[in-house]
Amino acid sequence: MTRENAGLEARLAEQESFEPPESFVEQANVADEGIYDEFEENWPACWEQAADLLDWDEPYDTVLEDDDAPFYEWFTGGRLNASANCLDRHVENGAKNRAAIKWEGELGETRTYTYGDLLYEVEAFAAALRDLGVEEDDVVTLYMPMIPELPIAMLACARIGAPHSVVFAGFSADALATRMNAADSEYLVTCDGYYRRGDALDHLSKANEGLGDVEHEVEDVVVVDRLGDAMDHDLAGNQHDYGDLVDAHRGETVDPVSRDAEDMLFLMYTSGTTGQPKGVKHTTGGYLAYTAWTSHAVLDVKPEDTYWCAADIGWITGHSYIVYGPLALGTTTLMYEGTPDYPEKDRMWELVEKNDVDIFYTAPTAIRAFMKWGTEYPDRHDLSSLRLLGTVGEPINPRAWKWYYEHIGGGECPIVDTWWQTETGGMMVTTLPGINTMKPGSAGPPLPGIDARVVDAQGETVEAGNAGYLTVQKPWPGMLRTLYNNDERFLNEYWREYSDEEADEWVYFPEDGAKIDEDGFITVLGRVDDVINVSGHRLGTMEIESAIVGTEGVAEAAVVGGDHEIKGEAVYAYVIPEDGYEGGDDLEAAIVEGVEDAIGPIARPEEVVFTPELPKTRSGKIMRRLLEDIASDNELGDTSTLRNPEIVDEIAAEVQGN
Ligand code: WTA
Repeated sequence: MTRENAGLEARLAEQESFEPPESFVEQANVADEGIYDEFEENWPACWEQAADLLDWDEPYDTVLEDDDAPFYEWFTGGRLNASANCLDRHVENGAKNRAAIKWEGELGETRTYTYGDLLYEVEAFAAALRDLGVEEDDVVTLYMPMIPELPIAMLACARIGAPHSVVFAGFSADALATRMNAADSEYLVTCDGYYRRGDALDHLSKANEGLGDVEHEVEDVVVVDRLGDAMDHDLAGNQHDYGDLVDAHRGETVDPVSRDAEDMLFLMYTSGTTGQPKGVKHTTGGYLAYTAWTSHAVLDVKPEDTYWCAADIGWITGHSYIVYGPLALGTTTLMYEGTPDYPEKDRMWELVEKNDVDIFYTAPTAIRAFMKWGTEYPDRHDLSSLRLLGTVGEPINPRAWKWYYEHIGGGECPIVDTWWQTETGGMMVTTLPGINTMKPGSAGPPLPGIDARVVDAQGETVEAGNAGYLTVQKPWPGMLRTLYNNDERFLNEYWREYSDEEADEWVYFPEDGAKIDEDGFITVLGRVDDVINVSGHRLGTMEIESAIVGTEGVAEAAVVGGDHEIKGEAVYAYVIPEDGYEGGDDLEAAIVEGVEDAIGPIARPEEVVFTPELPKTRSGKIMRRLLEDIASDNELGDTSTLRNPEIVDEIAAEVQGN
């Protein structure tokens, strides 16, 4: 490090706020701070600005319908089609030859789909799906990695009005079956396999195993041949080769089905506090308007940009900000199949340079990994095409923020730290990059029109400088409408905590803790429920516990999150072996395998701690907080209310000994 650099590092380390560069402000999509007042004074009509970013087949009559709150409806009476908004209108408006998706395969192959190409592919696959018998409102499950056929299938479903339910490819066979069962989904689109670090991975065998546990009849399965000769599978009777199907329908036109604004666009299952994942329902009008609006206002996306969100489409971030938001705005969205360290740790920066990426959006866990690998990797590349950086999924520590700002953004790109959730559909709390000062570690103020507040346990707004619970006190267009087939759970999970139901005043509770400062900036502290956030991915401790308890030789288990340098949080499992079983390497291996089978490798415990007892209160409740403190190596809190306080020291000694 040169002396000059050392000086800069030291200055950055102390700097607590950053102004957006003038060069950015001058060209920003949104740069007038009057927008905050304008949205407040004109709420909910302000959301017409979001709806105006879309083309409607039929105009809506009402912006917000709240008769049946909290089952809100947005843009009621309006009709539109999401695939027409993401494709047809751009083709008609002269962007036929603009790249819509640029795909970078892990082995170095590339594919570019212009808006014209993408429409052609989507129509062919939409025709194929219809031919198989898929009808409007049938849920089609997509179990696919980061290959172009995934967004093609999503848009084909949207075109014919069939909601999709994407299951992250890293999830296990069991997880696939649970989601297909919950959604009663009779159609699956998957692939033979994909590449990871240069190796061909089998995916279809996992899909087939999952299909074996689907309780209803599955009509058809479509299999994309990603691996060619690298892997051969025999297809079962109801399984079709994607390429053959599409070839049979090439050149067909499929008129986009006009959907009601409130018709379901997709379902996305996310982890909750029970073992059963929650089927979050998003709609066509509100969701698409909201993702388009936030892509415009926060990500500053412009049609001529090359925009890269390095998430996986299997999670909400990929749905909203790789597929729907950017394509609705007619930009070029980059999709990368592989891992950031293959073939070398400069892969991301190589792709930024090669594609002249303007906007880059990723998770803090990735930034912490880049930081650990060192600056030599970004330094190898010219990253001057970048204009804006973003983060999502978990809190970002100021050190990682500053590293990102300096070494990736070259001190010239604003960073948006965006707080939101699967349920919110799009960003909720973040700075607007052309307007706000940035404070590393703090997401920012609520977006215009978003009434997010930090409250205490009684629901009273806390004073600046204090911590409490994050709430959202007015509805917004991108919000989930319900949990699929489970209105009661929707009410219980999100609305019962702080609403005054008699007064018909509804407060959404995202189950995050947060702090607010004197400028109204919100720092999100993390989940307050039994959900842990590993590398930006939500995992329910109950789901993991039930997988562990299902392992032979396990009597009882408690799973908590503990601090982790790269992942943010990691899974810690405290396990009581059954009588006659030894807690040792064999049982640990069986537990890890059980978790991978039930959920997937992302949920694999970082550490399995065997113990004869778990710390419990006198009423028999496991004291998870103490287990969390042990996992994070924090000072241990009060143990006097425990029935068995002595066990805490024993467990702590065991963990620290490891
Ligand atoms: C956490 C991902 C701090 C939070 C889009 C939330 C964050 C959960 C941030 C949702 C952020 C997301 N700062 N925490 N910028 N963004 N979170 O549903 O705990 O996978 O409730 O959606 O991630 O995770 P989900």
